[in-house]
Amino acid sequence: MAASPDSKVFRATTTAPVNIAVIKYWGKRDAVLNLPTNSSLSVTLSQRSLRTLTTASCASFYPAQDELILNGKPQDIQSSKRTLACLASLRSLRREIEASDSSLPQLSAFPLRIVSENNFPTAAGLASSAAGFAALVRAVADLYQLPQSARDLSRIARQGSGSACRSLMGGYVAWRAGSLEDGSDSLAEEVASQSHWPEMRAVVLVVSAEKKDVPSTEGMQTTVATSNLFATRATTVVPERMDAIETAIQNRDFPAFAEITMRDSNGFHATCLDSWPPIFYMNDVSRAAVRLVHDINRAVGRTVCSYTFDAGPNAVIYYLEKDTELVAGTIKTILGEKSEGWEGPFYEPLKNLTAPGVALDQVDPRTVELLKDGVSRVILTGVGEGPVSVDDHLVNEKGDAIYH
Ligand code: PMV
Repeated sequence: MAASPDSKVFRATTTAPVNIAVIKYWGKRDAVLNLPTNSSLSVTLSQRSLRTLTTASCASFYPAQDELILNGKPQDIQSSKRTLACLASLRSLRREIEASDSSLPQLSAFPLRIVSENNFPTAAGLASSAAGFAALVRAVADLYQLPQSARDLSRIARQGSGSACRSLMGGYVAWRAGSLEDGSDSLAEEVASQSHWPEMRAVVLVVSAEKKDVPSTEGMQTTVATSNLFATRATTVVPERMDAIETAIQNRDFPAFAEITMRDSNGFHATCLDSWPPIFYMNDVSRAAVRLVHDINRAVGRTVCSYTFDAGPNAVIYYLEKDTELVAGTIKTILGEKSEGWEGPFYEPLKNLTAPGVALDQVDPRTVELLKDGVSRVILTGVGEGPVSVDDHLVNEKGDAIYH
């Protein structure tokens, strides 16, 4: 016998990926709606390496206030305007479909219990908010059986964390800044699928930061208000780069993709340095990673790798699968066995490596020392798909959270 809606726990579970921008989002034209001053573009990273798993559930008998449990810790949703904004938008879409079909259970009136966990340690220093908000929005949308597309839902995820809107899709994803005041044209769209250019790989060099970084929202506001370089970046530099990198992706032109990526990361960090007071996200180890990439490209005689840095010191180095030995192989030889993370599905081609791809005398010795001391872990990954609906629920049939 089917459970009555009064005792039934309704559930939906999804995974969502991390994304790393190659054209950076930096600057808000509306801080409440999270509307950006410029468009951005990212690569969705494989969930075989990094993913958030989220179950959204609702039941009439749940405690009245919505609950959110992240990595085993209950969160105070009421103090998170961003989470509240996402949930309110999703509920109102559910209410619309309930209003047009009275046979549907009134899920919009039930309290929610959302349980979420990352498969990577928070200590890795990776911004998990993009995957987190994308998973939350996707899971609740699935629970409510909303007909909206990923593109439509990206408007909602954007209100949680700007970069989250790009984690609702796989492959190569653009976030169009839009120009409307209500933000309805500020959304993400897939520029190319994962299968269009599946050879893209990334190695993340996890660099420990001595000091906590300036949070991205605060950093953006300072840059918009005080940097002279910023205005040109938003109005001229980024629009040109968006066009150029989309062409590079369509043509699978790695050298063009790589140069635009490196220049955009450098330009973004230049506007941070140009802010008042200046903001530094990169440190000596980050700069050593920059030098390494240029040294490898020079030694090989073509552009085989590119770096990019978000609001923190970790380096993300993109390369193509065929150049794994030249790039990841050289990094592995430099870091040696001490560093963690040389494992997982993307490790296979490196397993039997006997020599570095690039002779170490081609790399500045100070670079080697800084990286050896400063990189604690690597994450080997590659381009991947968008959120996937799964049955691996984190809430059981009775409504209790399951902790792994
Ligand atoms: O989504 P937020 O508010 O965490 O901002 C992300 C900003 C960068 O990671 C630096 C750039 C980007 O486009 O992801």
